[in-house]
Amino acid sequence: MIKVSPSVLSCDLSRLSDAVREVELAGADMVHLDVMDGVFVNNITLGIPVIRSLRDKTGLTFDVHLMIVSPERYIDGFIEAGADILTVHIEACEDVRAALLKIRELGCRAGLSVKPGTPIESVYEYLELCDMILVMTVEPGFGGQALIPATLDKVKTLRAELGKRGLDIDIQVDGGISERTAPEAKRAGANVLVAGSAIFGAEDKSAIIKALKTANIE
Ligand code: DX5
Ligand code: ZN
Repeated sequence: MIKVSPSVLSCDLSRLSDAVREVELAGADMVHLDVMDGVFVNNITLGIPVIRSLRDKTGLTFDVHLMIVSPERYIDGFIEAGADILTVHIEACEDVRAALLKIRELGCRAGLSVKPGTPIESVYEYLELCDMILVMTVEPGFGGQALIPATLDKVKTLRAELGKRGLDIDIQVDGGISERTAPEAKRAGANVLVAGSAIFGAEDKSAIIKALKTANIE
């Protein structure tokens, strides 16, 4: 099943809880919360206190994407604040295995992400410790960028590898996902679609979420 995770990076952040409720009512499966530290990426967004104060405003799964260096330092904090899926970048961890184990030990689903330039094979040794692999389809840092087509080859390669190993792990794509690019991403093997500008730029949120879910695979 295809799941849609709206990224609030593109919403009016002064009305964050309204925006989250709006996409919840519109049929979103989860909400994607982008955490940036100004070091791992050239932007600063939101952190633990914002996520904590949002927690009782929605029943949606919190899909937290950490774009911060040494994310190990904050795993407890983000899980206590309400993360249901916590994704760390392979390029940012001091000890990838320890980070993933800790996330799971604390009862959270573990995600591992790769930037466009990082080979997908680098996640293979950690697959058994992951609930989701996030293949970045743009350079992390900003919403509204165009999807980099070569990143979908990585999705394809990963889906084939998961099949070979008999692993049922979610593959999330993030960056430049729209009604136009969603079919290709799904064809490549992605089943969790993050979309920021496509959803928050649309007047009718239900229609765009439905379109992303159903956009033809053929
Ligand atoms: C970018 C973030 C994305 C971003 C996607 O670094 O990880 O989640 O919000 O935005 P769009 O869908 O506009 O490309
Ligand atoms: Zn993201």
